[in-house]
Amino acid sequence: MNESEKIWWNGELVPWKDARIHVLSHVVHYGSSCFEGIRCYKTAAGSKVFRLREHVRRLLESAKIYRFAVPYDKAALVQAVLDTIRANKLEACYVRPVIFRGYGSLSVSPAGIPIETCIAVWEWGAYLGKDALENGVDVCVSSWSRAATNTFPTAAKAGGHYLNSQLIKMEANQNGYAEGIALDPNGYVSEGSGENVFLVRDGILYTPALAHSVLSGVTRDAVIRIAQDLGFHVRERAIPREWLYICDELFFTGTAAEISPIRSVDRLPVGEGRRGPITEKIQERFFQIINGAAPDPDNWLTSVPG
Ligand SMILES: Cc1ncc(COP(=O)(O)O)c(C=O)c1O
Repeated sequence: MNESEKIWWNGELVPWKDARIHVLSHVVHYGSSCFEGIRCYKTAAGSKVFRLREHVRRLLESAKIYRFAVPYDKAALVQAVLDTIRANKLEACYVRPVIFRGYGSLSVSPAGIPIETCIAVWEWGAYLGKDALENGVDVCVSSWSRAATNTFPTAAKAGGHYLNSQLIKMEANQNGYAEGIALDPNGYVSEGSGENVFLVRDGILYTPALAHSVLSGVTRDAVIRIAQDLGFHVRERAIPREWLYICDELFFTGTAAEISPIRSVDRLPVGEGRRGPITEKIQERFFQIINGAAPDPDNWLTSVPG
């Protein structure tokens, strides 16, 4: 890991190496955490955090679903993220807030167990490899499905859910793919281990509706709005698996993956087998907004005070 200096822990900035928990903490045994992944970009006008308020909102919604009594509100957490970036003097970084059940008892019931809130930041480059954004990645359809409705609430970004993501990612990597796309329990396309998915067919964008066991991605929402702004139709719906093989373009969206084209699925080329023109247009606008080269009408960027 690219270690930085300080981690925000329940309101204090502590040295990176001192941010430790006990091995018998509830979270270690039962996956009881909610977290976010956020990016802070270096721009000509200083460091800017992408959609910070939306990420903090989702963090608090995840915590609400899992009945965490979080002692901080949205404004306090937004400020804490900015303070942590500034304290670490990083111009560009990945931001990881995590709220978890700490040390108290190992009963499955979390009653009486303290809630811990931490924010770490560190330097992190392209998630799916250096040239993924331009050349695209090779993926497979996972043999693992996403969780069925009313098992794990996929609107929550919770630690335990990522055991399923690990199965998808490990299987894909061991078979030589950069990532796996999982189906929902009914066999419709759901998402990658840590990314939402979009496809293009006949000039129209399609992405699985939220009912298909997907996380409501902040980048997914940004891409829907950018695509509509550029004049494309976007349809959120059920997507059969075979559309992955016959679409013209396919790409992942996510904070870590940003907008990453997919060039093959199960060894079948997607379209021409490289980044498609609509993917490129959306990617271009996305990075223009981040860099300040295109307007930011919805205030997606929050400046990190110097
Ligand atoms: C399972 C899963 N789906 C989708 C996403 C994309 O979400 P976002 O764009 O908010 O990062 C992520 C990443 O957070 C994820 O872990």
